[in-house]
Amino acid sequence: MHLYDSAGATEGTSVSRTRPAAVMILAAGAGTRMKSATPKVLHPLAGRSLVGHALAAAATLDPHRVVVVVRHERAKVAAHIHEIAPHALLADQDEIPGTGRAVFCGLSTLDATAVAARVASGEVGDISVLDTQLDGAVVVTSGDVPLVDGALLGSLVDAHADSGAAVTLLTARVEDPTGYGRIVRDAGTDEVVEIVEHKDASDDQRAIDEINAGIYVFDAAVLRGALARLGRDNSQGEMYLTDVIAIARGDGGRVQPFVAPDADAVEGVNDRVQLAAVGRRLNDLILEHWMREGVTITDPSTTWIDADVVLAPDVTILPGTQLQGATEVASGATIGPDSTLTDVQVGAGATVTRVHGSRSVIDAGATVGPFSYLRPGTHLGVDGKIGAFVETKNATIGDHSKVPHLSYVGDATIGHHSNIGAATIFVNYDGVSKNRSTVGDHARVGSDNSLIAPVTIGDGAYTGAGAIIRRDVPPGALALTSAPQQNVDGWVVRRRPGTASAEAAEAASQADGHGDALSSGPQAVPADDPQGEA
Ligand code: UD1
Ligand code: CA
Repeated sequence: MHLYDSAGATEGTSVSRTRPAAVMILAAGAGTRMKSATPKVLHPLAGRSLVGHALAAAATLDPHRVVVVVRHERAKVAAHIHEIAPHALLADQDEIPGTGRAVFCGLSTLDATAVAARVASGEVGDISVLDTQLDGAVVVTSGDVPLVDGALLGSLVDAHADSGAAVTLLTARVEDPTGYGRIVRDAGTDEVVEIVEHKDASDDQRAIDEINAGIYVFDAAVLRGALARLGRDNSQGEMYLTDVIAIARGDGGRVQPFVAPDADAVEGVNDRVQLAAVGRRLNDLILEHWMREGVTITDPSTTWIDADVVLAPDVTILPGTQLQGATEVASGATIGPDSTLTDVQVGAGATVTRVHGSRSVIDAGATVGPFSYLRPGTHLGVDGKIGAFVETKNATIGDHSKVPHLSYVGDATIGHHSNIGAATIFVNYDGVSKNRSTVGDHARVGSDNSLIAPVTIGDGAYTGAGAIIRRDVPPGALALTSAPQQNVDGWVVRRRPGTASAEAAEAASQADGHGDALSSGPQAVPADDPQGEA
């Protein structure tokens, strides 16, 4: 199931007991205080965009429809939503500003969709439009409150269903209510009378520490009726959604407050200071969740885990580790210290030490690091090894095979139980195109080899140290390409007289009494010597 889409969810998997008719996410505002070329709701936090968090929370309610209201940087925001939540509807806010107008535009889209769906299903003719509009509970939330999760929204939806109120409204008691809308309650009955925006509030009202979190559940008909009567007579000249509260109450509807158990959870992101603060808080919650699930995290203050990462019990995470994207780690694996994995799958019992990796698979029992760079398309088999200062890309390294030291393995397939000698380069690029090389099972590539792709080294084949492999090596063969070594005896004493090297050479020849340092002539190398592959 797509994370951000309730479409396709099994019936009854919702976090709330009742399925809302719709969730509406407001994301049309400019987000000026971010001072960014990127729209506010697209800023990333724990591996999702801000609006992605709202969509993920919405999906857990299993609503019949999700609609996102857009306007500012419409093209970018719409493209992103289409990518992560293809079933979400988009509603365009017009030029009239304010959250009330945003919800009006969102509800119009929901109504039009409901009518179209009922006409298409043959349930009604297109004449009885009024009774075919959306009915039931509509959850309204913002694209900039990433700590509001499905559990909190679910409690709100359930409270709304239980009380039968016209509006259920999430509030919080905070130390510093500056900037928020204030909840004005009746002194006698304690009922919510209205919400007053900070900019429009009197000094007495500004002293109220109960704030509007900006998250509501409305009965669709009550909302529709109240939105039609919103004015713009306020300090900002906007249509305020918050005015719906007093209007609904005036109509005899009941307004039910729901005080958030944790006030920090409703904090919005308006600038980058809040982005960092909310990001840290979200990370704390994610780490706490995994520790309670049986993961050891040695140093929570230097560990960052994205919202969509999945960890098994008895995973150990050492300091300075970032697990990002869709990374998954199986039981008994140890990650870190100082590792960053993005979209990496790590098998049971694997060890990943000081590694930078993305879009790769590390199978059970394998070891990677220290100081390894796994680029996309790396697959390391069971009990395999990628060692120190090794870079890999688009490479499959089979079970029990090893690339222990100082190598580049790009566009390669290596079988099982093979060893790649130190400082070997898979030369995959000819300046125009990338080519793939293959190494068989139980093969041994010598140290300091260059495998000029495309080339195949057969099962059980060996190559000598320093070989430059341009042609295929048949199974079981030894490939040697380096020229025989020549020792030009006495060269240093003759050609670098007076140097420390010459003096050392003379001293050595006198000590062994043979005068070897002064003799001359090439020295043959036995043809079957693989020259010490690692
Ligand atoms: C709003 C509430 C305030 C509450 C606060 C909680 C109103 C009038 N005020 O104020 O009572 O305490 O949230 O965080 O509702 N948006 C649109 N279209 C617009 C304007 C805004 O879609 O024309 C969207 C924004 O993108 C954002 C959300 O609505 O996601 C809230 O807008 P914002 O301007 O941040 O409202 P606040 O001033 O914070
Ligand atoms: Ca806000």
